[in-house]
Amino acid sequence: MKQLSHNPAPIGVFDSGFGGLSILREIRKVLPQYDYLFIGDNARAPYGVRSFQLVYDFTKQCVEYLFEQGCNLVILGCNTASAKALRTIQQHDLPVIDPTRRVLGVIRPTVEKIGQITKTGNIGIFGTPGTIQSKSYDIEIAKMYPHYHVYGHACPMWVPLVENRESDGPGADYFVKKDIDALLSQCPTIDTVILGCTHYPLLINKIKQYMPQGIKVIAQGEIVAESLKDYLRRHPEMEVKCSQGGTCTYCTTEEAEKFNGLASIFVNEPVQARHVNL
Ligand code: DGL
Repeated sequence: MKQLSHNPAPIGVFDSGFGGLSILREIRKVLPQYDYLFIGDNARAPYGVRSFQLVYDFTKQCVEYLFEQGCNLVILGCNTASAKALRTIQQHDLPVIDPTRRVLGVIRPTVEKIGQITKTGNIGIFGTPGTIQSKSYDIEIAKMYPHYHVYGHACPMWVPLVENRESDGPGADYFVKKDIDALLSQCPTIDTVILGCTHYPLLINKIKQYMPQGIKVIAQGEIVAESLKDYLRRHPEMEVKCSQGGTCTYCTTEEAEKFNGLASIFVNEPVQARHVNL
């Protein structure tokens, strides 16, 4: 790795592809004063079907890239990476790379909120195969709310539908309905469903169409944004290392032109990304 700077710098936000932009958008609403640097590893997405080792290797490369660009704080805006790579990066890599830098994920803040929402204690999770198989949500929920029941269901087709701009097409109707039915068939009294993948808010219209009334659907953007605000309040030593220019820069491992179109839809503003080779 290159020599790392310790000057104030943008907050880094990472995702395997476009999904983390749904987190970044909400973070910027709550914390518009900071600078942000986003990287989407679109060339290697989706991560959700990949092995633990590959998700870890790819995530670590992206985090190191953000560190090399100066970021002192990095948010993994990706459940799959939060499930499969975050702990190892925090416990094994950060002490070696630079113990003053921080990497935070999206699973813990989401779980912390759940207690205020569910009434039945029966919680459904939609996620990528990697997130569901990791049982990260089950483990975190059991730590905080041991009496709750968690029902996970993997939706391997949802990320490809989003990445291929098919979120509003008939294929999305078929798979969203099928996966909602499969989740709810596990337990008829699920009252709260977590969208445990940052791509899924892009399917929210279809999800609302097929989800029975009365079941709350939880997207993570606002939750993660509020949690980051709280983190910066509690960690003034990190807050001063986050530069405040209100800018947002986008990078992708894919061709920039291929990224810009759909990225603009996610963040509701024109995007001019820079291509990076990792
Ligand atoms: N958006 C990511 C997540 O939250 C991963 C999607 C993927 O690459 O499979 O899990």
